Amino acid sequence: MAHLSRYRSEYRRSIDDPAGFWREQAQRVEWFEFPRTILGRDSNDNDAWFADGVLNSAYLALDRHVDAGRGAATALIYDSPVTGTVTRYSFAELRDEVAQFAGAMVGLGIEKGDRVIIYMPMIPEAAIAMLACARIGAIHSVVFGGFAPRELASRIDDAAPRLLLTASCGIEFDRVIAYKPLVDEALSISRHNVEQCVVLQRPQCEAELGATDLDWAALCRDAVPAGCVPVSGSDPLYILYTSGTTGKPKGVVRDNGGHAVALTYSMSAIYDTSPGEVFWAASDVGWVVGHSYIVYAPLFAGCTTILFEGKPVRTPDAGTFWRVIADHKVSVFFTAPTAFRAIRKEDPEASLLASYDVSSLRSLFVAGERTDPATFLWLETHLSVPVVDHWWQTETGWAIAANPMGIEAVSSKPGSANLPVPGYDICILSLDHEPLPVGEQGDVAVRRPLPPGCLPTVWCDHERFLDAYLRPHPGYYQTGDGGFFDEEGYLFIMGRTDDVINVAGHRLSTGEMEAVVAEHAAVAECAVIGIGDADKGQVPAGLVVLKDGVNLDENEIQAELVAIVRGQIGAFANFRRIAVVSRLPKTRSGKILRRSIRTMADRGDVETPATIDDPAILDEIQAALARRQIGLAFAGS
Ligand code: COA
Ligand code: AMP
Repeated sequence: MAHLSRYRSEYRRSIDDPAGFWREQAQRVEWFEFPRTILGRDSNDNDAWFADGVLNSAYLALDRHVDAGRGAATALIYDSPVTGTVTRYSFAELRDEVAQFAGAMVGLGIEKGDRVIIYMPMIPEAAIAMLACARIGAIHSVVFGGFAPRELASRIDDAAPRLLLTASCGIEFDRVIAYKPLVDEALSISRHNVEQCVVLQRPQCEAELGATDLDWAALCRDAVPAGCVPVSGSDPLYILYTSGTTGKPKGVVRDNGGHAVALTYSMSAIYDTSPGEVFWAASDVGWVVGHSYIVYAPLFAGCTTILFEGKPVRTPDAGTFWRVIADHKVSVFFTAPTAFRAIRKEDPEASLLASYDVSSLRSLFVAGERTDPATFLWLETHLSVPVVDHWWQTETGWAIAANPMGIEAVSSKPGSANLPVPGYDICILSLDHEPLPVGEQGDVAVRRPLPPGCLPTVWCDHERFLDAYLRPHPGYYQTGDGGFFDEEGYLFIMGRTDDVINVAGHRLSTGEMEAVVAEHAAVAECAVIGIGDADKGQVPAGLVVLKDGVNLDENEIQAELVAIVRGQIGAFANFRRIAVVSRLPKTRSGKILRRSIRTMADRGDVETPATIDDPAILDEIQAALARRQIGLAFAGS
């Protein structure tokens, strides 16, 4: 890295003088009152960035650009091949829509600090709802539309929202999925009482409205536009639930100040964008990528963002991404590797690419899971632009490691997440907290303070924040990922060290699936593991022990458990395979040896752990995995 003088000096400065470095970055944000304290402590005695600054995130995303004379520039393009629609919003138009909907919420009595759940498909109103919350200081919590009612209900109970915003339906390929029955079911399961539900009616399927339901359009018609409410840097902008190791999702809290500064910085330092350019993140507003890089960051930076309602394939074909890039002159594109694996499967030679002029594209970013080298090379071969794998998490809200294209581009190394992003002091630690030498794999941790934008706590559960992130390695933030640095300083992220798995770029907890499977009357015990999959990266598979006297064969129990997980968590969990066994391998103290089962599924063999209570069970598990054809599908490297 000797030649990387600009990157190295910027990185060093961010680590040696975090407050000075981030004060400088904060100057690029238009605060109502610039923070006096750059890095302080919050009421939990945790690091707090810009706590006494005053700002409004919707103002930074929209009004600021209108005030600066860029009101006519395009802020958002809604491109929906599944409905045959393309709609453009200028910054002024989007600001007006947001102000109107914000006014509608104010009319319902929603105030700063109130929580609002957003359960919507990929339509502009989802972004409008998020920005409208930000405008009035309400805290939004977006729940991915693929989640089943029970998952929505658990988020409602935790966030305790006053209002729920939804649409009448979503569209999956050519299937119309009615949302209102799912919302009604969630509201009937949840203990928390949501006062009102606002429903956006889509022509594909009109919802029947009940006594506490309001029609979105009618509500907006009667509303008085609302202005931007000043909030403090430490006021929460949103809560985004993510999977942890236990069944209960964690409410990652994002503050307004750190988020605005970090995302603004990322748009220049990592993605190298300028105002007016088109930035496209093909993800979903239900995930962190959607929050950060469909809604907030591109708009903070004055870019045009694209909200795409469709899939990389079959909407209508595997050329749809290239069509969107060509139609809207996308400069920077960001999506999950799994999307490209889906395209490559349908169009291995990328022959559809030839029909489109994608010369506007300057760089391609991938994240959500490790990009397998085969997919990386396929992309490099067919698109003559730099391909950048970068690593981040819901918790951080922006990249921890990347190719810093706006500071000094490096050549990306296939299989690696590239270099630490300024602000993140990444260390590889052993289980007893010792820094490990180059090349040795361990826990990937970040020395505190974390840079701005990262979670300050878990919603209403600071103890869980401490247990999950700060206590495992004192002085560090525990990422939950394992990996190593190579001799040139490139970081390789090799996978989670906990029970979180990553299925087609969707983060899921095996513990949560186990809890659902265990509820089946026939199941005595179960273990859910992530196994390699050629398309999805990983998929879950279950090993179940049936209760005595149960008379279901393996296919029957599989069909029932698959249906339960689809119904309780969602189809996107891709829980499809089950093997029945007589026992599960456990340590002598009774802990299920998931890691051993996983190794068997991935490699076909396993060393018998010294702690196992009954080694013979491993042979049975191996036979069961082979019988059910579970595993060994994807080497992943
Ligand atoms: N609502 C309802 N159902 C949904 C859904 C949603 N929002 N999203 C997915 N599903 C369903 C699918 O229809 C499918 O149902 P089926 O089993 O009845 O066919 C099932 O869940 C599996 O979905 P998935 O694994 O996502 O496959 P897919 O073929 O629908 O889509 C990809 C494949 C690659 C396009 C998709 O997984 C994807 O976009 N992943 C990237 C996620 C992401 O952006 N992560 C953030 C990091 S960048
Ligand atoms: P999420 O919180 O849904 O964004 O998922 C975060 C997790 O996805 C990380 O902890 C990693 O396990 C994985 N992940 C995300 N991006 C990458 C990447 N570029 N390389 C390897 N793993 C990644």
